[in-house]
Amino acid sequence: METFAIEGGIPLSGELRVQGAKNAALPILAATVLAGGSYIIHDVPHLLDIKVMLEILSSLGATTSHNEKTVHIDTRNIDSSYVPRDLMGRMRSSIFLMGPLIGRFGEVTLSRPGGCAIGERRIDLHLKGLQALGVEIIEEDGLIFCRGNHLKGSQIFLDYPSVGATENIMMAAVKAEGTTIIQNAAREPEIIDLQNFLNVLGAKIHGAGTETITIDGVSNLEATEYTIIPDRIVAGTMLLSALITGGSVTLTNVNPSHMMALIDAVQQCGVEIEFDHDIIKTSSNKPWQCTNRILTSPYPGFPTDMQAQMMSFLSLAEGCSMLQETVFDARFKHVNALNRLGADILVDYNTAFIRGVPRLYGDVVEATDLRAGAALVLAGLAAEGQTIVKEIYHIDRGYDKIDEQLTCLGANIKRMDLPE
Ligand code: UD1
Repeated sequence: METFAIEGGIPLSGELRVQGAKNAALPILAATVLAGGSYIIHDVPHLLDIKVMLEILSSLGATTSHNEKTVHIDTRNIDSSYVPRDLMGRMRSSIFLMGPLIGRFGEVTLSRPGGCAIGERRIDLHLKGLQALGVEIIEEDGLIFCRGNHLKGSQIFLDYPSVGATENIMMAAVKAEGTTIIQNAAREPEIIDLQNFLNVLGAKIHGAGTETITIDGVSNLEATEYTIIPDRIVAGTMLLSALITGGSVTLTNVNPSHMMALIDAVQQCGVEIEFDHDIIKTSSNKPWQCTNRILTSPYPGFPTDMQAQMMSFLSLAEGCSMLQETVFDARFKHVNALNRLGADILVDYNTAFIRGVPRLYGDVVEATDLRAGAALVLAGLAAEGQTIVKEIYHIDRGYDKIDEQLTCLGANIKRMDLPE
């Protein structure tokens, strides 16, 4: 069982290049199924979820390799539209295969993606969107059979701007006959990246980044080379890592315009942040202030994927902060562990009340999910003494060797293999 041992209290400083975005890379890798061909995708981080996605593509018949930050995929020999149940169960993002396989073969068989620690993660909007394009869906014995040889463009309203549903519908609609309009679409930057990738293949999509996305179906697409956008959540995590230790950091390969909700929240706490089009600089001016205005919501709101890390930061703020989670229904699992480290946090339904404390103290804690794990690493970096974070495979799902990234900034964090 791998764990992190962190000696806290060292102010981080230095410069870090931020990795490519996991949440952009996953749907883009799935979308390579749409057009059989040879792809080169740059700035793909080494993460467990990416490894699983490449395993799924291989199980369908693709050849894949991931060297340095570049993935080579050849999807010409894909001859299966069945995603094995064990692979579906290993990560939620396996659902991204649905749209591309329907688009290429007119059919796909898969199971519901694995359950998730952060709350109920339904796929009704994915299914509703595909049905609107003419896909027939039957669920039997835990399998979902989708058939749709003649996809037809349609007008689809999402009653919630789901990121995954928007992406799956876009990927299926690319090959549909006629025009598809998605209303109340999610507006995340990763959706713009998917649009840009698909358009380089030859798709005709516009509107990503707004609430209405229009997809004019095409019959031919061609494989291509592409570079993934920077990861705004990793950038935010590194920013808060430096701030929580009273340090300073310069982040490169970032897009600050994708991070304005976080930048604004940190500024509300009295921290100064300098940013230009692809660089962010900040240094901590302890103590920072509390804030009562953070509410997670779909982009451009405050990202739910930064909520846990922000809570660690607010644990050391002056005064009482309030943080509301509206996107997922079980995303406060880090609270007990933070309190164990000395934080003073109370939860009432979807609202956390965080009374700032002067310091945190090292202890043994367990990561319960990806961002909760990141929040514990942040708290450990700030705490007095040693913090052991267990179950760090959750963290490796989204951060490309977070220990090495933090070590570059001067942190004392060691990956250790402990007996279970
Ligand atoms: C994506 C991100 C994830 C992020 C989330 C919200 C990827 C790979 N993952 O996840 O990191 O936390 O966006 O920003 O991009 N919902 C339904 N029905 C559906 C689909 C979703 O009710 O068919 C609900 C979910 O239960 C959840 C909310 O919508 O409460 C948001 O989910 P969604 O936007 O779909 O998130 P993901 O695409 O799963």
